[in-house]
Amino acid sequence: MSSRLSPIDTAKFVAAKRACDFVEDGMRVGLGTGSTAAWLVRCLGEMVKDDGLRITGVPTSTRTAELARQVGIKVATLDEAKWLDVTIDGADEFDDELNLIKGGGGALLQEKIVATASDRMVVIADKSKQVQTLGAFPLPVEVVPFGWQTTKALVEETLAALDVLGDTGTLRMTGDTAFVTDEGNYILDLHLNRIGNARQLALVINQIPGIVENGLFIDICDVVVIGHGDGRVEVKDVNTGVTQQDKIDFVDTDNLFRDLGE
Ligand code: A5P
Repeated sequence: MSSRLSPIDTAKFVAAKRACDFVEDGMRVGLGTGSTAAWLVRCLGEMVKDDGLRITGVPTSTRTAELARQVGIKVATLDEAKWLDVTIDGADEFDDELNLIKGGGGALLQEKIVATASDRMVVIADKSKQVQTLGAFPLPVEVVPFGWQTTKALVEETLAALDVLGDTGTLRMTGDTAFVTDEGNYILDLHLNRIGNARQLALVINQIPGIVENGLFIDICDVVVIGHGDGRVEVKDVNTGVTQQDKIDFVDTDNLFRDLGE
């Protein structure tokens, strides 16, 4: 076990490492965004270099594309790959049915398109992301910049009539300016505290003009790999109902653990 990794990084790493078992030679693989997905990209890069694994990676953000290229993964666009065997990505929250909140890193639009275009979506997360009910993490919603304040007001009005415990949205900022997504849009973070009916919320929000997409992933995720700080992992498959327990033993080799960008 590594002594250089914090328990949270260990949890993220072992989840990512175990998720590599879902990747086989020749596969087209959706590559998620965020700190957990960055571990995955690094692990896959090692497999490409050391084991001769041949995969095509479809990144869900410019950040992930850059990292994938750095570690030697062949990168393609979704239009080039067309359909993917598996997408592996992090999440901000997941519930018992493996419904998710995503978009904490601002990449929810590409993440949802890529995951939906995959035979299987595998989420990798540390235990802290597991919740009984979604909503403590603010729900990211991508909006077009044109008229965003009007869109925000309409969203808040709509939320007041839905099964949630909060109805305010805040514009995501980077310092003094609005955060801009890879598609040139803004993100509204909706402070809902508790989402009573995630399926309904996801459908209703997307009907509002100006909304591009929301960060609720309903019936998209098939498997979650939950990492723990002591190296244990749980692999829960929502389709079979089976949960497997595992333990990942590793040593922190220089290549994999050096200069992690995220
Ligand atoms: C990126 O937009 C998000 O959906 C991430 O997958 C999510 O925020 C999880 O990120 P971490 O792995 O960094 O917690």
